[in-house]
Amino acid sequence: MLVTAMLAQTFAGQWESYKLETADPAGGIIMPDFDLDDFVQELRAAARQDEPVKKVRELMTEAFRDPAAIRAAMPEFENDDEILFEDDSVSIWFVRFMPGLHVPPHDHQTTATIGVYEGAEDNHFYLREPGRLVHKGTRRVEPGDVIALKPDGIHSVEAAGGQVTCGIHVYLAALTKIERSLFDWESGVARRYTDENYDAMKRVCT
Ligand SMILES: [Fe+2]
Repeated sequence: MLVTAMLAQTFAGQWESYKLETADPAGGIIMPDFDLDDFVQELRAAARQDEPVKKVRELMTEAFRDPAAIRAAMPEFENDDEILFEDDSVSIWFVRFMPGLHVPPHDHQTTATIGVYEGAEDNHFYLREPGRLVHKGTRRVEPGDVIALKPDGIHSVEAAGGQVTCGIHVYLAALTKIERSLFDWESGVARRYTDENYDAMKRVCT
């Protein structure tokens, strides 16, 4: 089996991008099955190991090399956000971005590992400077891609190309319990990440 890994590290080391290509010697792509329950259990185990960031990244990268298998196995969730599992070591979310919504800049205060299996999401990355929020780059995350944001990484997210985007997001903590921030689009002033502030800061294009 030939395994080729690609890794790109970007500005200030705030986020990383991974793609794992696996092929057999005959040149045929191996198409593993995907089972959501099994994957959740594997992620839970990875989060409890030494080097959980690396272990989760490896699992995500391996799984998302076949986004079609994930798409075929995922339930049709009613809500755009569904917590698949959460304890103090890991939060595993289904996340859907609808076209026209731009999620405001925010951090996670823990490592966030994001994989997309349908559509594509544009991740815009920022750094705070005195009195302003500076856009540093954009990464389109497409089916098969996995990116990881460091705890202090700031991003905003929107569905790309007018298509619904679906993915699995893994956070190495209980995300619902974390005190984290939203950041003003212009000034970079931090506000508590609450539903009220989120609704006030989100951008909706009609
Ligand atoms: Fe995020």
